[in-house]
Amino acid sequence: MDGRRTLRARLLLAVVFCLPGLIQSFQPLFVFDGNSNTHRDITRMAILRKTAEVCRDIAESEGREFTLTIDNSLSADKVQKACSSDSSSSLLSTVIFQTSIATMYFSNAIVDVVFALSEEHHFDDETFEGGRDIITSGVSAVKASVKRENFLAGRWTLGGVCHTLQDFYSHSNWVELNNKDPYSALIKPDEPLENLAGLTTPTCRNCTGDNCADNLLPDLLQQGLITSGYFNMFSRAKPAGKCSHGGFFDRTSRRDPVGGISKDDVGASHGSLHHQAANVAVNATIELLEDIRAAVGNINFLRLMGLSQSSVLCFVIDTTGSMSDDIAEAKRVSFEIIDRKRGTSQEPSAYILVPFNDPGFGPLMMTTDADMFKESISKLSASGGGDIPELCLSGLQLALTAAPPSSEIFVFTDAPAKDADLKSTITALIESSKSVVTFMLTDVLASRRRRGLHSLFSRAMSQADAQLYRDLAQASGGQAIEVTKADLSAATSVIVDSSASAVVTLFQVVMNPGRNENFTFTVDGSLKNLTAYITGDPSLSFTLTSSTGVSQSSSESSGSLGSMTTAGNLRRLSLNADNQTGSWSINVNSDKPYSVKVTGQSSVSFIFNLVDSHEGRHGDFSLKEGRPLSGGNASILITVTGSDTVNVTEVTLFDSSGPTVVNGSLQSMGSGNFLVTFTEVPAGNFVLLLKGEDSSSTSRSTPSVFQRQASTQIKTSGISISAQTNTTSVEPGTTVSIPVTVAATANGVVNDSVTGTFTVQANNDRSYDSTSPGSVSIEAGKANGTVTLTVPANAASGTDVTLTIEARNEAATDVNYAVLRLSVAAKVTDVTRPACHEVSTSTVCPSSSSLCASFQWNFIANISDGINGTGIESVTLRQGNGTLNTSTAVGAGGENITVVHYSASCCSQTVELTAVDKVGNVGTCVGQARQSTTPAPVTTAGNTTSAGGSICSVQHTLWLSVVVSVLWR
Ligand SMILES: *[C@@H]1O[C@H](CO)[C@@H](O)[C@H](O)[C@H]1NC(C)=O
Ligand SMILES: *[C@@H]1O[C@H](CO)[C@@H](O)[C@H](O)[C@H]1NC(C)=O
Ligand SMILES: *[C@@H]1O[C@H](CO)[C@@H](O)[C@H](O)[C@H]1NC(C)=O
Repeated sequence: MDGRRTLRARLLLAVVFCLPGLIQSFQPLFVFDGNSNTHRDITRMAILRKTAEVCRDIAESEGREFTLTIDNSLSADKVQKACSSDSSSSLLSTVIFQTSIATMYFSNAIVDVVFALSEEHHFDDETFEGGRDIITSGVSAVKASVKRENFLAGRWTLGGVCHTLQDFYSHSNWVELNNKDPYSALIKPDEPLENLAGLTTPTCRNCTGDNCADNLLPDLLQQGLITSGYFNMFSRAKPAGKCSHGGFFDRTSRRDPVGGISKDDVGASHGSLHHQAANVAVNATIELLEDIRAAVGNINFLRLMGLSQSSVLCFVIDTTGSMSDDIAEAKRVSFEIIDRKRGTSQEPSAYILVPFNDPGFGPLMMTTDADMFKESISKLSASGGGDIPELCLSGLQLALTAAPPSSEIFVFTDAPAKDADLKSTITALIESSKSVVTFMLTDVLASRRRRGLHSLFSRAMSQADAQLYRDLAQASGGQAIEVTKADLSAATSVIVDSSASAVVTLFQVVMNPGRNENFTFTVDGSLKNLTAYITGDPSLSFTLTSSTGVSQSSSESSGSLGSMTTAGNLRRLSLNADNQTGSWSINVNSDKPYSVKVTGQSSVSFIFNLVDSHEGRHGDFSLKEGRPLSGGNASILITVTGSDTVNVTEVTLFDSSGPTVVNGSLQSMGSGNFLVTFTEVPAGNFVLLLKGEDSSSTSRSTPSVFQRQASTQIKTSGISISAQTNTTSVEPGTTVSIPVTVAATANGVVNDSVTGTFTVQANNDRSYDSTSPGSVSIEAGKANGTVTLTVPANAASGTDVTLTIEARNEAATDVNYAVLRLSVAAKVTDVTRPACHEVSTSTVCPSSSSLCASFQWNFIANISDGINGTGIESVTLRQGNGTLNTSTAVGAGGENITVVHYSASCCSQTVELTAVDKVGNVGTCVGQARQSTTPAPVTTAGNTTSAGGSICSVQHTLWLSVVVSVLWR
């Protein structure tokens, strides 16, 4: 190999392994200089500020007080508290909100990995039109996802769009041109991008040594021309006289004009402007969020942001003939929850119902309307059935991909799963979504009741059949409750428990095989309603001992610590209110498999995400999908919620079967975030246990010690799999190809000596056509293949599809997977925005406010989406508390017109209307009452002279601020 090829090979290696460090933009997630802002910071701040603004607007419209100051010191806890209308009555959990914010900053950060070599995604090389197309087509896909209530897909797309938008401010000379406001044309495709420096216009001169403070040409600045830096890792080529990005990896910056203009961090070429660029990027992100809010409305915007305290209520129900008692019980318990919580902040944020039997499953019903859910569950009837098991896992797959992350899903069945081959797909979806699955298994080992007496075949679920459900429950942190149909109603208390606010897990363990063991856990002062759940053989016994030495044994159904109920294999111990803080223990005696779970209610909780580190100039991380490698290192980003005063002291991975404990090393990243690194994690199934101190707690003198455990297991794998699409949205009627690379590893690195075959299979939740390589042969430890997915031509924009790609070794003893979430997005051709023309403003309001209540003013306007537009979908009142009426008419050119009649008291003299067309283009229309100078009202019609500084006059085309429309490349 000659020198050049070696260098090229090294650089390519660098591309593969070090992209986030090489691709220079605001650092994706972390900076270690302690001073710079990352994409994560910018995104988080914009989300918090816009969410708070929307909550403030809602509070104002409902006449409630809103006292939160909206500035850069906001935290998720503060925003959620301020947004909650009844914060006093229940415990607040910000887990869902924090998880949503994390989804958006992770999908933002991953743009640096997936689109590392695309200039447009970073506004490098003066690709302004291309960058804007990425933003506006992405925004339109977000709106389509929200319209179909696919919020997770919407968040994922939105995070990526924000990355490109934010990079503009770091990579262009926008702030050097002294602009304080965002460049709004970047989110408005039909506005011209003006003042761009031409391709042949020189933009930079050499830096003076390392000093690039003055390298932009004065002419450029005088004329206000916009440019961005050229960037290339492989070549020094750039058009003559053009600015470079700058930095070690940018080879163009070493040729004239040398140096760069990036503001990625404080140490960059224009690092002195880093904070200014980051601040405008925050405001630009807020402006983009505002456009989405205007298109989807306040409520859906808050749902997109994940601002919800309550989880969903999600049932997956077997509807075969023998299930009528179970269905009746599912109905009873859901009605109980709905009726108790309706109208409170604890009302489930959505309801999901998936029926299954054989040969069918689904359709999935998801609604925010409790009555619609009640109706659907009431309509379920048990029928049919035979000797074949049911499609339980197919039904569960639908629920896992539709429910928000970290949901709790309840499965009711009395039959084995016919589709047990989906087990690894379901496990992958559980690990990826971190949802908890609890099974209500009735009459395990009893023969299934038959409608006809003629059959002698038993449809009993064997222990092996039940083990599948137990394994899935364990992987998710749920429980497998085995109960007779008669006792089911005693077991469904776990469903009611899980619907309480802010439920956290303190401790959970599954012992299989069982053995006598003494477990300890710490109870802190923030916990309410402690509950212990023990599942196991009837012969199991236990003794629970509090921190003060008070004990209660399994033989006492009511004792000094609490009261116990038994239903099938479940004992539920509800502990008394006067919790004793400190170390508790539970001593369990059983040689059969058992599980112990201790929960409580507390605001203090945490979320975690596996991240992959990338070596590079600064070193950074991106979200890791799939399992960490056995014997390798694992990094986890933890965000502690519910308190600004907690310190995490210890994070461990715990495997009860070993037992093995791996201690993580902790690094605080600010705002409750901790990066935890585990080295040489052995093969196994781990749970994540976190311990910390909360200094805000009730006991003032000493900080309160607390512990929390993650529900979802973390499994390691010796197989690495990478599958990444270069798109998050797919057009209907097209096929995407996804290259997949699998490798056999040992101690976290590819093991060259491995040969053989792996199985690579893909599954999707929409039953779309998909191909997978099946078996691939491993050479030198690695193999490549391609998975394809074809989206039908009739798939609606905004539909999401979750593709799970699994790689298995020959013996099927080891599995790893990648989960890809794609959105269907049709090309949007309607780029016209709703246009608004004022027809008349009648009445002049008195200038004296004391008289205003006695006078009304009227405003009439015509709104149209034009002859070729998709049509007006909604006209809503953004500002003004008068009455709005609309009627329709046909304009001179044959276009449909929405005629708006607004009338309001003179105490409210401004009206702002938002008009949205069917693809989410937003037009805004502002009207203003005219004011007389004299205190007495002037009501003369046709008075067009505007006195007293009025803004509008009759027949005047309104100021039209159109927030966005969409153009696809
Ligand atoms: C961002 O917007 C806020 C609120 O509108 C404003 O106070 C602030 O000055 C803006 N920041 C920049 C850098 O433009
Ligand atoms: C269980 O452990 C606790 C704490 O270490 C101890 O106080 C208790 O005596 C133990 N119980 C049994 C039965 O070993
Ligand atoms: C604890 O449970 C009781 C009864 O179930 C309930 O009334 C109370 O609101 C719960 N506590 C909290 C903090 O939710």
